[in-house]
Amino acid sequence: MSIEPNPITLRLMTEDDLPMLHDWLNRSHIVEWWGGDEARPTLDEVKTDYHPQTLAKEGVTAYIAMLGEVPIGYAQSYIVLGSGDGWWEDETDPGVRGIDQSLADASMLGKGFGTKLVRALVELLFTDPQVSKIQTDPDPNNLRAIRCYEKAGFVRQKTITTPDGPAVYMVLTKFE
Ligand SMILES: CC(C)(COP(=O)(O)OP(=O)(O)OC[C@H]1O[C@@H](n2cnc3c(N)ncnc32)[C@H](O)[C@@H]1OP(=O)(O)O)[C@@H](O)C(=O)NCCC(=O)NCCS
Repeated sequence: MSIEPNPITLRLMTEDDLPMLHDWLNRSHIVEWWGGDEARPTLDEVKTDYHPQTLAKEGVTAYIAMLGEVPIGYAQSYIVLGSGDGWWEDETDPGVRGIDQSLADASMLGKGFGTKLVRALVELLFTDPQVSKIQTDPDPNNLRAIRCYEKAGFVRQKTITTPDGPAVYMVLTKFE
């Protein structure tokens, strides 16, 4: 059986990507699941809040997903332990990472690109021997995201209450 190579690669996001990210974060298919209308960010907010140096201080690494030479999505990983602000207070394992991602173009949704993106991100994170487990926390109503994570190997654990509201806690442990 041949395994097709993943057409999606990830590169680190840079400061130069921030205007593009601002455009993406204001697209309605992302706004719907990324904080809602009241969280639509201005360009200045994106330049501050998503600056790679700002994110690094919070244990967050941001990536741009590429399909060949074309940027097609935003992804981020974060160190779960010590997130602060009421997030993940029960976590004791420094090896756990969390992930989030969104495809930039609504016309690409539901065609398998998200699953490939998540697989690429998981593969990248597990190249770090310190990473033991990857978690994600989609909105319980975001059935497309939940299904995407399941297809990428995540296992649904339980519904939890986060500072942003209810979420489905899903995990992928190394070697699964
Ligand atoms: C979440 C996201 C990255 C997933 O990527 P994607 O390319 O759309 O997902 P995929 O096509 O790989 O997989 C989606 C699966 O959900 C299914 N699906 C779609 N809508 C669904 C719904 N309403 N109910 C149940 N399943 C649904 C699809 O049929 C597909 O499953 P299948 O292959 O078994 O048929 C993408 O949809 C996205 O960027 N959405 C907007 C922002 C967002 O929700 N971000 C995630 C925050 S956690």
